[in-house]
Amino acid sequence: MNKGRKVGEERALPGEKSAELLGLKNEYVPKGVYHIAPIFISNGKGALVEDVDGNEYIDFAAGISSLNVGHCNDEIVSTIKEQADKYLHTCFHVLMYESYVRLAKKLTEITPGDFSKQVFLANSGAEAVENAVKIARRYTGRYGIIAFEHAFHGRTTLAMGLTSQVKYYKYGFGPFDPGIQRFPYAYTYRAPFKTTDAEYGEYCVRRIEDSFKTYMPAEAIAAIIVEPILGEGGYVIPPVEFLKGLRSICDDYGILLIADEVQSGMGRTGKMWAIEHFHVVPDMLLAAKSLGGGLVLSAVVGRKDVMNSVDAGGIGSTFGGNPLSCAAALKTIEVIEQDKLLDRATKLGKIARGRFEGMKEKYDIIGDVRGLGCTIGVEFVKDRKTKEPAADELGKIRKNCFEHGLITMSCGVLHNVLRIMFPLVIKEDELESGLDILEDAIKGSK
Ligand SMILES: Cc1ncc(COP(=O)(O)O)c(C=O)c1O
Repeated sequence: MNKGRKVGEERALPGEKSAELLGLKNEYVPKGVYHIAPIFISNGKGALVEDVDGNEYIDFAAGISSLNVGHCNDEIVSTIKEQADKYLHTCFHVLMYESYVRLAKKLTEITPGDFSKQVFLANSGAEAVENAVKIARRYTGRYGIIAFEHAFHGRTTLAMGLTSQVKYYKYGFGPFDPGIQRFPYAYTYRAPFKTTDAEYGEYCVRRIEDSFKTYMPAEAIAAIIVEPILGEGGYVIPPVEFLKGLRSICDDYGILLIADEVQSGMGRTGKMWAIEHFHVVPDMLLAAKSLGGGLVLSAVVGRKDVMNSVDAGGIGSTFGGNPLSCAAALKTIEVIEQDKLLDRATKLGKIARGRFEGMKEKYDIIGDVRGLGCTIGVEFVKDRKTKEPAADELGKIRKNCFEHGLITMSCGVLHNVLRIMFPLVIKEDELESGLDILEDAIKGSK
């Protein structure tokens, strides 16, 4: 029996049971392990979640875009149960299993590039990033890695070095890898001078090419790692000239292009991978988050000659590509294909984007609305001319959303971008209800 509040009804947070668990969290888990709301989940299905006090929520965060197929998809859950009845773990290096190699084959088929590919499976997004850099260095014999301002690539030491957000991802954790060079990402809304989107994209590319004369020779650069859409950095969609320009620099100088699709991939944009929208083919593509349908899994998918350059034992992991995750990932890809979730992402994205464009007309606090499919960023500003970030205001709006049954997250180095990440299986009335809660909160914040 649901003793809590339905979506749309106001509730005081935390509820009694969540408050008790929060006490344990604060006592026994370090504060570095952040939480965005004082809520503990009881169960989830599709785009709906219930907390331990029986309060219901619509989930616009989906485990930070890790549940594109929704909470507890029936087919994925029964696949996991079936696998759990057979064997849980062997370590692929000790005793191999079919689902690892079947998933590897499938990933080579659904990623861009009509060349031969191979796949290495790991656990987290950061681990995929670490291994891609290792492989790129081994293949090229070079050490330099180019990354971007506003990028996020994870929290391990190398991935953190590639990440470009000081507080709190990097603060006090240095020094970082000396091979990393950083350049501006084509974040057109915040271009520092008057320019067109295309020109700014080209300018950002030119900065890299110029640096081969001033910072580090191109012959020392192993790879450029880029998020085709900035995730943690603000759900920024770059102009096509930016990604195409990176590809041609890589072609001209023998540098590898690594697309970090950990957050942008697995169908959220309306294509399986965000980089497909730009008609750019990377040499390596990194997947994680939604790949495992809710289970822990990441992948490095790359050109066969590149991937195969590492000696046996050079890459590996005890739990990487574990049997439960591989089975879940194969089923996840099947669900995306069979339920036509790419088309659904395009359709739902249009509805949500339209609502946000309408809100932008009405509320000055919205400075920019951008997106591809269901990857939508809404940037909040105090003043549309100065673009002063409205981070506190967005924080209050999001708190109000939680109190009315909507889970949301922010992002951006300035903490002022609302990122929309609902599961692609959300029902249209749930989507509209979530957007209503959000609009009421924005309206009320004036
Ligand atoms: C683009 C990108 N790369 C890498 C990571 C790191 O993934 P994980 O948290 O699984 O290590 C993230 C996580 O948010 C991400 O968004």
